[in-house]
Amino acid sequence: MSVDGLDDNGIGTGLDARGRRWTIRGAIPGSRVLAGGKPGGGVLLDVVEAPTDAIPAPCPQFGTCGGCLYQPMPRAEQQAQKLARLTTLLAPLSAPNGGILGTPDDGYGYRNRMELSFGVDRYLTRTDQLREKAGETVDRAGRYLGLHGPGRFDRIVDVPTCAIASPAINAVLEQVRADVLASPFPAYAPRLHEGFWRHLGLREGADGVLVLVYTTTGGDAEREWLAEHAPNWGAATVLWYTTESVADAAVGDLRAVLVGEPTLRVALGGVPLTLSPLAFFQVNPHGAELLLDAIRAALGSGDLLLDLYCGVGALGLALHQDFQRIAGIDQVAEGIAEANQNAAALGVRADYRAGRAELVLPALLHDHNLLGGARSGRLAVLVDPPRSGLHPDALRPLLTLDADVLVYVACRPSSLARDGALLLAAGWTCTGWTAVDLFPHTAHVEVVARFERRPATLAAESPCPPSAP
Ligand SMILES: C[S@@+](CC[C@H](N)C(=O)[O-])C[C@H]1O[C@@H](n2cnc3c(N)ncnc32)[C@H](O)[C@@H]1O
Repeated sequence: MSVDGLDDNGIGTGLDARGRRWTIRGAIPGSRVLAGGKPGGGVLLDVVEAPTDAIPAPCPQFGTCGGCLYQPMPRAEQQAQKLARLTTLLAPLSAPNGGILGTPDDGYGYRNRMELSFGVDRYLTRTDQLREKAGETVDRAGRYLGLHGPGRFDRIVDVPTCAIASPAINAVLEQVRADVLASPFPAYAPRLHEGFWRHLGLREGADGVLVLVYTTTGGDAEREWLAEHAPNWGAATVLWYTTESVADAAVGDLRAVLVGEPTLRVALGGVPLTLSPLAFFQVNPHGAELLLDAIRAALGSGDLLLDLYCGVGALGLALHQDFQRIAGIDQVAEGIAEANQNAAALGVRADYRAGRAELVLPALLHDHNLLGGARSGRLAVLVDPPRSGLHPDALRPLLTLDADVLVYVACRPSSLARDGALLLAAGWTCTGWTAVDLFPHTAHVEVVARFERRPATLAAESPCPPSAP
């Protein structure tokens, strides 16, 4: 069938001969494809005809690991598609402020963070399966390090390098791979719950690459091997975590700091920040500067910045010179501790609180005299929620809040469309939004939307979203 567009999640869509609309992961507009499965979740079997401007994907794992599906689309076309999709989705809020912001490079090598898994079974592509059926020997069991095959918890797509990871991360990955895959210890087999190597995390900061190695407990031989080999990986820091959990997640207890210091130093908008190894930070550091510029332009300056869903406070602290005070909320207590430490190091007057925004926000508003119209000075609100968007109980106080501006940063634009509609109904007006191409070669896109109170609209008339159960 012909792929004629992208759905709200950036997945290719097209009509079949019976008039049924399919969504097909990995299919790009302008192509003719062969798809299997069901219309609601089609599987791309073959590209019969690529669009004339299609470019060969540079990543050897393209089509297998399940990520970076836009690689065959020229970058300008990727951005045009994202902007067109957003313009339709967000039309009830407002028109865009302009084009889509993106770094001027080819969009590869941007990620400062990767998480990989070890395994004993290789993910077989359709071609592998056909070769095996034809009697050829296919590499399928051994020791692998990469990403889970689409929909498989037990099969690994081997990833020697990742086209969107930074050169520094790929260099360390190459060292770790060579060393670990040649070690005397087996990779973890999830079906049997045995083996040693489980996950590998890589993060790049100002001092170089920080490596997180996750294993099962192991014994003296494993400990000695790691202590001997980790210093050879070219990493600034190597941390070793162990777990016996059956859950397939890169989690564990810190067993040893094998190399360097257990902190990550980063910078945003020229502001230095110190993070713990597991803390959230934007994965595209150059794109994050564009995001910050868009947020800064939308927020303006003022007396108080409310930074909701603040993580380690990176966005608010990067803007601290524009505000007298910052108050923030995040559910991760460690992140809040780091936000407070970073604020103190920068000499910022800050009140960061740990907890769920839907529970903590009323008290924060009360303590800063933001209820009942008694406030003085300009109040700006920044919300940067997870993909699910604002919890109804976090949105409710914002509907009636007498703030000068509210800036909503959305990693899932459909959540912004839903929450934005409620803000509009409550008397806010959307003065525009800006798209930031923070995740080139993928369907993802970040949006910064700006809301102002419509003059002479009474908060008391605001409809409330339904209460959470
Ligand atoms: C997209 S991240 C934004 C982080 C931060 N603004 C930044 O750019 O570094 C979303 C944040 O929301 C937090 N979060 C998720 N659900 C939450 C909730 N119900 N209440 C408070 N924080 C929450 C997560 O811990 C995470 O730090």
